[in-house]
Amino acid sequence: MEEMTSEEVKKKIEENEEQPVLSVQDLHTSFFTDKGEVKAVNGVSFNLHKGKILGVVGESGSGKSVTAYSIMQILAETGRVTGGKILYRGDDILKWDKKKMESFRGEKCSIIFQDPMTSLNPVFTVGWQLNEALMLHTEKYKKKDAATARSVELLRMVGVNEPESRIKQYPFELSGGMRQRVMIAMALACEPDILIADEPTTALDVTIQAQILELMKDLQKKLGMAIILVTHDLGVIASMCDEIIVMYGGRVCERGTADDIFYRPCHEYTKGLLRSIPNVDNMKEKLVPIAGTPINLLSMPKGCAFCTRCDNALKICLEQVPPEMQMPDGHYASCWLNVKKEAEKEGLLKPEKEKTAAQEGKGT
Ligand SMILES: Nc1ncnc2c1ncn2[C@@H]1O[C@H](COP(=O)(O)OP(=O)(O)OP(=O)(O)O)[C@@H](O)[C@H]1O
Ligand code: SF4
Ligand SMILES: [Mg+2]
Repeated sequence: MEEMTSEEVKKKIEENEEQPVLSVQDLHTSFFTDKGEVKAVNGVSFNLHKGKILGVVGESGSGKSVTAYSIMQILAETGRVTGGKILYRGDDILKWDKKKMESFRGEKCSIIFQDPMTSLNPVFTVGWQLNEALMLHTEKYKKKDAATARSVELLRMVGVNEPESRIKQYPFELSGGMRQRVMIAMALACEPDILIADEPTTALDVTIQAQILELMKDLQKKLGMAIILVTHDLGVIASMCDEIIVMYGGRVCERGTADDIFYRPCHEYTKGLLRSIPNVDNMKEKLVPIAGTPINLLSMPKGCAFCTRCDNALKICLEQVPPEMQMPDGHYASCWLNVKKEAEKEGLLKPEKEKTAAQEGKGT
């Protein structure tokens, strides 16, 4: 093999560092039910970089969990990824066999679910379950004593008090907040590169919610992993995320930093979402829920998924899926209004008012 110059080596290292840990590209996932194909995810793309937190926001049914489960390959039996790529450090996991996928789930990527009781086994003690994860997936903690010591250490790290006695307890003996901490400890047991937290705090009360999110942020800083934080509550995660993607109808409507999304939203769904949650700008105003019912994924609109609920929908919105466009501040949104605005700016289209006036003129 030809020797590389130090410049080339440096370039290679830089390239590697820039490579996302996870790159989801044009992901499509469907469920094949008796009623037909439910297109739950319809072309989702995003990159996740080392040590970064990506927030995934959207209302119930927008495809957040299905995206997460597609990455983990833990979809229900009727579910299948029908298109796209999921690259882990450049390697498409969709091409991996079962064994490689199992080790990915155990060692590289972990998930925390909304309800810890669904993933903690009620008939085994907390310590047994933590030991099992460690002994199965790590070399360092293969022996029981080493695993137990590590389990205690992990519980202490996630803020569980008296971890030595906690490991002997069963999940039902712990409070909701404690159980979620145990789940986080389990997810961190193998020091994964990627942690997916699917609504990790929704079932908890507000104070505990804040504590758990703070804990995740601290651990992320300490351990340097990348996190995908899934939530329907934009307000809760805004301060934590390096990047946020807003989903609707299994598609990404908008992606950018928390500031982009909060202060410069460029998609009508994001704007609606912001009007429906309390924030510093609308404290004195009445919160406005987004009118209309969520879309039926069995019969997706031909154009923009949000068109049936959008007050500003154009004709083209009903017919064609809006392309993703970069906004002047650098973030991205997929809404025909932006395309129209740009065309008006470039003189390709007359501004709406003039056009209407001209049309009126023609009619008289
Ligand atoms: N096993 C399944 N069979 C059929 N459809 C499914 C299945 N699982 C999910 N779906 C559908 O896929 C769509 C996306 O679901 P998903 O669970 O990803 O939503 P979500 O954004 O996570 O919502 P929530 O905030 O309620 O968790 C929903 O319309 C849901 O009904
Ligand atoms: S593309 Fe059209 S329907 Fe969709 S959000 Fe934008 S204006 Fe509304
Ligand atoms: Mg979900």
